Amino acid sequence: MSELAILGGSKSRTDPYPQWPVWDQRDIDAVTEVIKSGRWGGYPYPGPKTAELAKKFAEMQGGGYAVPMANGTVTMEVALRAAGIGWGDEVIVPAYTFQATASAPMAAGAIPVIVDVDPNNYCLDPKAAEKAITPKTKAIIPVHLGSNMADMDAIMALAEKHDLIVIEDCAHAHGAKWNGRGAGTIGHFGSFSLQSSKTLTTGEGGILLCRTPELAAKAASIIDCGRPHALGGGAEDYTQEFQVGGNFRLSEIAAALALVGIERFPAQAKEREAMAAYMDESLSEVKGVRLLTRDERHTTRSFYRYIFAIDPQEFGMEHDVLVGALDAEGIEAWTGYEAMNNYTLFQPQKSKLAVPKAFPEYFDFENMNLPEAQRACEHEAVWLDENIFRAGPKGVDDAVNAIKKIQKNSVELNEAAEELRKKYK
Ligand SMILES: Cc1ncc(COP(=O)(O)O)c(C=O)c1O
Repeated sequence: MSELAILGGSKSRTDPYPQWPVWDQRDIDAVTEVIKSGRWGGYPYPGPKTAELAKKFAEMQGGGYAVPMANGTVTMEVALRAAGIGWGDEVIVPAYTFQATASAPMAAGAIPVIVDVDPNNYCLDPKAAEKAITPKTKAIIPVHLGSNMADMDAIMALAEKHDLIVIEDCAHAHGAKWNGRGAGTIGHFGSFSLQSSKTLTTGEGGILLCRTPELAAKAASIIDCGRPHALGGGAEDYTQEFQVGGNFRLSEIAAALALVGIERFPAQAKEREAMAAYMDESLSEVKGVRLLTRDERHTTRSFYRYIFAIDPQEFGMEHDVLVGALDAEGIEAWTGYEAMNNYTLFQPQKSKLAVPKAFPEYFDFENMNLPEAQRACEHEAVWLDENIFRAGPKGVDDAVNAIKKIQKNSVELNEAAEELRKKYK
């Protein structure tokens, strides 16, 4: 009988990890209050809960003018449009991220220019970004991926030199800090998702932090069907001009949930950070595991998923084999996103999207050279669920013991790998 749960043995962890999202009576009361008030929706924008959320979220991140909206994809589209970026403009995005980072520029009519990531942290490589700059480049969207932050000093220096707008994709970085400054307050915009897996959630939602009150007013207008808004994204202001917009408002019910989430957030983030430090220590003993480098300027590590890398040769197996076995052991893990050039939906010959059709030369994925992102996505990266970091030291011990157990049984597991891949595909 095998020791490994995936081959019929017993699980390393039988107690489930804590659930996400966390809720209690406060959430029920907050939603009930909004329902009873009759003010459910986001119109007129901003409703009282949305305005309070904007204020509290900007305080939590330590700056900016916050405009809550429907999700963490339109946030980036709106940022680009508010900055006047559109048809045919180039926007640099990293090759390792969720597709939203590239689809948002396309929704604004801009061309995502995909560049490789730094193998030490899997975030956008500023040197690769610099090489990709042309006279048509107008913006850059670094993603603070998983548990790391992109090198914001290098990116802001590039932006200054080439007069680029910086939109930090902070979907994974609520509460994170770079040199003591909150993620999303360093660039011109910070884009946050409040979708249900995110560490601050309303079920569905997003917040755009804007550097200036003027940009926030434009963003508020774009998400409110073009109605003009006061500086900072406040109430309607019909002394200003209308612009083209849509309805991307956040509902008051969602805003009320986010406000309760903000109350809980500091304690949750602190616990995750402490347990991540313990995970670093525990994993550093495992042969073939490479911890991603935490830059010393990344002063607060508040994170979405803990990512580490394996060297498949030294560790004894490919990352998909490890992840499948970990899941069976009761440890939620994932190989992460695909490299951006593997996203078939952007391929001009397969899509009717306006931007890939009009500019196919930017979407020649087969000839794109993105070795670091591809190595991470195809062989190395292991993403551990955040709930592992909310279960005390035992939560971490169980995960690390499962990794060691799987490694010890690598020969048996590799023999079964092809069959398992077919079964779990
Ligand atoms: C890196 C990244 N950017 C953007 C998004 C988009 O956020 P949303 O789903 O709220 O649109 C997500 C996740 O969903 C993400 O992981």
